[in-house]
Amino acid sequence: MNAQQTTIHKGLEGIIVDRTAIAKVEGAIGRLSYRGIDIKELTAAHSFVDCVWLVLFGSLPSTEQARALDDFLVRSMAPTDSEQRILAALPRSKHPMEILQGLTPLIDRRFADAPALPVESTELAEGLVIAARLAGILAAWQHLRHGESLPVPDRTLGFQANFLLLFSGRRPTVQALATLQVTQILQMEHGFNASTFAARVATSTLAPVQAVLSAAIGTLSGPLHGGADEAALQMALEIGAPANAADYVRQCLAQKRRIMGMGHREYKTVDPRARILKPMAERLCSGSTHETLFKTLVAVEEAVQQAMAQRGRKIHANVEFYKGAVMNALGIPSDFFTSMFAIGRVYGYLAHFLEQRADNRLIRPQAQYVGPDPASAAQPE
Ligand code: ACO
Repeated sequence: MNAQQTTIHKGLEGIIVDRTAIAKVEGAIGRLSYRGIDIKELTAAHSFVDCVWLVLFGSLPSTEQARALDDFLVRSMAPTDSEQRILAALPRSKHPMEILQGLTPLIDRRFADAPALPVESTELAEGLVIAARLAGILAAWQHLRHGESLPVPDRTLGFQANFLLLFSGRRPTVQALATLQVTQILQMEHGFNASTFAARVATSTLAPVQAVLSAAIGTLSGPLHGGADEAALQMALEIGAPANAADYVRQCLAQKRRIMGMGHREYKTVDPRARILKPMAERLCSGSTHETLFKTLVAVEEAVQQAMAQRGRKIHANVEFYKGAVMNALGIPSDFFTSMFAIGRVYGYLAHFLEQRADNRLIRPQAQYVGPDPASAAQPE
């Protein structure tokens, strides 16, 4: 291959590597839809479990199907005794994302009876057990860190209500449950983003579902991807007040540091998820102790946009920017934000696992070699 003729697609930007029928990301107009339904409609009129079914199987479930899946997830979520023993043996300083990535392949994937899923796949049912269990593990980790025991799921509540019950020890309010559902629907799926692509690469090797999910969760943890939510909230807390935002942004840009939660590879206008999360954050924070935090975020967003406009550039908030304020108002500690993302996105990974397996080809790109030429390298004596 002639090095001068080779075009390098760094970061695979703009490269179409396959087809997908799961999510449509329309970066130019700021629209995101799952299986042809706009996320605006999904968050306004459908439950999290409805959307799980939709993303996995292509259409919204009947009431019976949604109930069966919800029940399966609730029955699968409590960590087993051996999983609790593993958790108890780990240093409390471990980040929740390390816990999720590390435990995923170790989860006991056995299930008694799966709901009648429209796809014949033991691995899918096992993947759904993992997905549900990750939520229980996250709640267990929160309790372990505080030396408390994990509450047991309440079979009269749905999966998401049970997550909040397990995590906080209290039955959730209607508002808390609605907030969680919307946030988790928005985080469920997003085309060939970095962690989903990691899932597809792992799937393409015919790795088992637990390895696929672990690879994807590890990839999500980086601050240029899922990890930006925690970083954005920490940034707002560090800035402290709206009046300090402009100086902070100026310094950041002068030092070529990134403002977390701003900018997106695909969206050239407002991220449609941020469009839903911002007013939600405002409603939750107004008149509460979190009001300054929200106003600081607004001031940072404005300052970044102004500074970028001066450079002839447009930049907008992405899904991560206001999500931290929402999660914070829900009582989720900031080091759990990315793991909350993971337990929502895991269903998207499973949908891509099915799609990749259905028409698989090993994903194996090439790199241009720029090291020493073997012909001219010194030969060992
Ligand atoms: N802060 C400061 N400058 C930025 C930012 C930002 N958040 N985002 C982009 N820019 C600037 C870059 O410095 C670059 O400028 P340059 O050409 O002068 O070097 C230009 O805009 C283009 O940036 P790229 O990194 O090439 O754009 P890319 O499409 O790769 O970036 C990304 C997308 C990685 C998300 C970037 O906007 C970023 O780092 N944002 C902060 C991290 C973040 O919020 N990640 C979460 C994304 S959403 C998600 O993954 C779920």
